[in-house]
Amino acid sequence: MDMKEIKKLAKERMNGLCNLCKECNGLYCAGQVPGMGGTGTGDSFKRNFEALKNVKLVLRTMHGAKNPDMSVEVLGEKLDLPLICAPVTGSDINMGGYLSEQEYCDAVVFGSKKAGTIAMVGDSGKSEFYVAGLDSVKRANGYGVAVIKPRENDEVIKRLEMAHEAGVKMVGMDIDGAGLVTMALFGQPVGPKSMEDIAAIKKATKLPFILKGIMSADEAELAAEAGVDAIVVSNHGGRVLNHTLGAAEVLPSIARAVKGRVTILADGNVREGADILKYIALGADAVLAARPMIWGAVGGGEDGVKAVIDNFKSQLYQAMLLTGCSSISDIDESKIVNLNVIK
Ligand SMILES: Cc1cc2nc3c(=O)[nH]c(=O)nc-3n(C[C@H](O)[C@H](O)[C@H](O)COP(=O)(O)O)c2cc1C
Repeated sequence: MDMKEIKKLAKERMNGLCNLCKECNGLYCAGQVPGMGGTGTGDSFKRNFEALKNVKLVLRTMHGAKNPDMSVEVLGEKLDLPLICAPVTGSDINMGGYLSEQEYCDAVVFGSKKAGTIAMVGDSGKSEFYVAGLDSVKRANGYGVAVIKPRENDEVIKRLEMAHEAGVKMVGMDIDGAGLVTMALFGQPVGPKSMEDIAAIKKATKLPFILKGIMSADEAELAAEAGVDAIVVSNHGGRVLNHTLGAAEVLPSIARAVKGRVTILADGNVREGADILKYIALGADAVLAARPMIWGAVGGGEDGVKAVIDNFKSQLYQAMLLTGCSSISDIDESKIVNLNVIK
């Protein structure tokens, strides 16, 4: 499928909720949660955009990186590229309802698998959305990751057991969902968690456990101490708290604190192949993307998601070729200039 056509169709089908702007900078959709934007003035979403834009690539062409290998292994899974489909719920309120929740989950789970990577599915105040995600993953022979909201521990453990039954490859929690008003509206309490809570949840599964929504080095340390296998450096696409830093700004200090002890994933405005390279150069092992996957799913279903990921692949290949990276492990600080001032 052609990317232009996918984006055109996605824009038409999302009823004004997403403008598919040339630069996805959080301006058009500011304040649209539910919807596709960031919360409040959209400052945290905009900050993700600006922080990543402040990382520049160093063009190099006198080297031997002729046929870059983009493959990686993340928590035991071999992926064609270091890009994972981020968890997203709420096709009705967030995307305009063109797809049912089940259709959305099918598109991302099967589209990602076809393109050589894995999708995460999310949890929400509408409990049937978590069930829909697991259903898609189960039909994809378990090829997916279940990400649960920071509910009370016994509720989390119940959902871990559902994920085990679906045969998922990994599990996780978007702990930054701790203040979500939408969950309260559905009478399903969420809240912050202690290190002991996380350690207890981690003990309830044999699968790799990912903690999503870490934005400081001290909490990355706590997560490592609690025994998690991976963290996602993320401000939830600016949807949970206004006025945070961008993920690209906090990533270097987090990587200095825990690199090598836990797998580091990051998200926030990954929109082209170069963005994957930037986050890895800043310290990530792989990245997540959400909104581009929504465009793919709404614009073209499973094939649309595959086309989005294939597009990322060809752009990353080009970026690696022109920065002198033969493999993902060659991507380091020397390939970028970081203009962000926060260290
Ligand atoms: C419409 C929408 C719904 C989302 N739902 C969830 C969710 O249910 N669980 C979750 O962990 N993250 C959720 N997220 C956050 C994404 O997983 C991701 O962290 C964030 O959007 C940053 O990636 P992006 O800039 O590529 O969109 C959602 C994001 C969007 C835009």
